[in-house]
Amino acid sequence: MANDAVLKIEGKEFPLPTMVGSEGEKAIDVRNLRAQTGYITYDDGFGNTGSCTSGITFIDGDAGILRYRGYPIEQLAEHSSFVETAYLIIHGELPNAKQRRHFGDLLRLHSPVHAAMDHLFEGFPLGSHPMAILSALLNSLGCYYPHLATNRVQEDLANFEEASAIAISKVRTIAAMSYRKSRGLPYIYPKRTLPYCENFLHMMFSQPYEDYVCTPEVAQALNLFLLLHADHEQNCSTSTVRMVASSGANLFASVAAGVCALWGPLHGGANMAVIEMLESIHAEGDDGSKFIESARSGKAGHRLMGFGHRVYRNYDPRAKIIKASFDKALASLGIKDDPLLAIARRLEDAALSDQYFLSRKLYPNVDFYSGLIMRALGIPQNMFTVMFAIGRMPGWIAHWKEVASNPKNKIYRPRQVFTGNAKRDYVLMEKRA
Ligand code: SDX
Repeated sequence: MANDAVLKIEGKEFPLPTMVGSEGEKAIDVRNLRAQTGYITYDDGFGNTGSCTSGITFIDGDAGILRYRGYPIEQLAEHSSFVETAYLIIHGELPNAKQRRHFGDLLRLHSPVHAAMDHLFEGFPLGSHPMAILSALLNSLGCYYPHLATNRVQEDLANFEEASAIAISKVRTIAAMSYRKSRGLPYIYPKRTLPYCENFLHMMFSQPYEDYVCTPEVAQALNLFLLLHADHEQNCSTSTVRMVASSGANLFASVAAGVCALWGPLHGGANMAVIEMLESIHAEGDDGSKFIESARSGKAGHRLMGFGHRVYRNYDPRAKIIKASFDKALASLGIKDDPLLAIARRLEDAALSDQYFLSRKLYPNVDFYSGLIMRALGIPQNMFTVMFAIGRMPGWIAHWKEVASNPKNKIYRPRQVFTGNAKRDYVLMEKRA
């Protein structure tokens, strides 16, 4: 074929087919490499490896482009809402008025959790991390709705609309309940009259004697935060969801695994780590310059959290949008002169003119400012990654469906290059040193 690659190895030439994606990404198809040559590829961290084809989200890391189902994130941030964008990501098209109403009705219908789930919270010791609770309770949805979690893919696909609505709606209720439990507060049940974000904040912050009043600006800030996190192609947690889905596991088990992957500080945990970093800089009376000096080491624990990205070698478009909406959101919350925001801005300015960061193409990512938005909304710090999970749920669901509905789906099973001991015989205890 005209654009075949040719691999020359051990004196022989092997043609390798190539493929080109709808946005021009090029790939060498190595699916027959081992059978043809006896070689596998090696790519720790998969930075050069496409694990699948997907039609959900497109990222151009060099140009700082992010599109959900072809729609630029900037346009969705300006015109859409989290629920509408969730529908788009899952179903592939923007909903018409009837579809949007039906989707909203499903989410409202499924917002309460099964009464028995209250007892699951009782089993967690006080101070349990909300991500541990979230993952466990999401997985337990398969026990409360066994007809939606049969692990017989065709049956689970046939019930996909109900299962996906349950996952998107109940992730929010479970998150709010874990917060209330951690504070020793009574659970506040969802209201059918409230939209998605307002209902979440109601379940989080209302009291039995007084409803939390959500301003339009706060609801908009939360909508934007969730929308910007809704999908991000083959990131660590989404690849985990796809890995679990590839074995035929149900939607709830797959997204519960995604929560666990997202928890790590290099991934979804970075939004919490950014605030911890800003608070420690503030506490030391540093204006950020000392920290930038230490961040140049790149060592774990000294990294400029919220900076750098495996794909973006440019400003993360989501960070740009959050930063631009920041002043409006803070003003509406009556927050002026936030010292941490001032430090964040100084850190960004310093890093963006510092050769260490510029030479490594390290720019702010979605987590650099998002933690400050959540802090301004009154979301407790240990819930920041939970908020990321609520936002990412539509993406995980869409990728589960893309794997489950692929008739040629193969279970994900990467190879390895073995570097351990060669064959050796068992040594009896008395003969061991
Ligand atoms: C998310 O994949 C996604 O799409 C993820 C995400 C999504 O929506 O799902 O976008 C969400 O996870 C955003 C990333 C959040 N994590 C952080 O902000 C943590 C801080 N950033 C990093 O640790 C790091 O940048 C990663 C993990 C995000 C990316 O790491 P890479 O691409 O594997 O880069 P690397 O670790 O190989 O580093 C390359 C160089 C190294 O220096 P040298 O060895 O070349 O001297 O850059 C340095 C690193 O030390 N470096 C940093 C740095 N990040 C990389 N130095 C200081 N501060 C940093 N933040």
